[in-house]
Amino acid sequence: MPGLDHRVSGALVPDLLQVVREALSNAARHADATTVRITSGTDAGRLHLAVAADGAGFDTARVSTGRGLANIAERVEAMGGRLELVSATGEGTRVELDVPLQEDLP
Ligand SMILES: Nc1ncnc2c1ncn2[C@@H]1O[C@H](COP(=O)(O)OP(=O)(O)O)[C@@H](O)[C@H]1O
Ligand SMILES: [Mg+2]
Repeated sequence: MPGLDHRVSGALVPDLLQVVREALSNAARHADATTVRITSGTDAGRLHLAVAADGAGFDTARVSTGRGLANIAERVEAMGGRLELVSATGEGTRVELDVPLQEDLP
């Protein structure tokens, strides 16, 4: 996304990278995914990021959260953001987050 790196504070980068890494790892390990789409953008002072993978998916009401998904939730909360996890058996998984952009402190 052109220019996105100028708008995302360096302070958010470790958390954002780890969220994407975990979502990709889950797509590879649990979903047998063939396609993963990562989208990002900014709007009204917020960063929107989504990692959507096809493949197995899972029933979010029945599968208990492991360390990976718990860690994603903790990081999004630490960034003051909102998280949405959408998945269904056979229909893939989308991890979507929205976090406020912060200015880098001098
Ligand atoms: N993309 C995915 N596709 C299918 N199942 C998933 C996906 N992501 C997570 N899951 C399910 O949710 C469970 C918990 O995931 P997670 O918290 O990352 O722990 P872990 O990856 O260590 O098992 C997984 O064991 C798996 O059953
Ligand atoms: Mg995992």
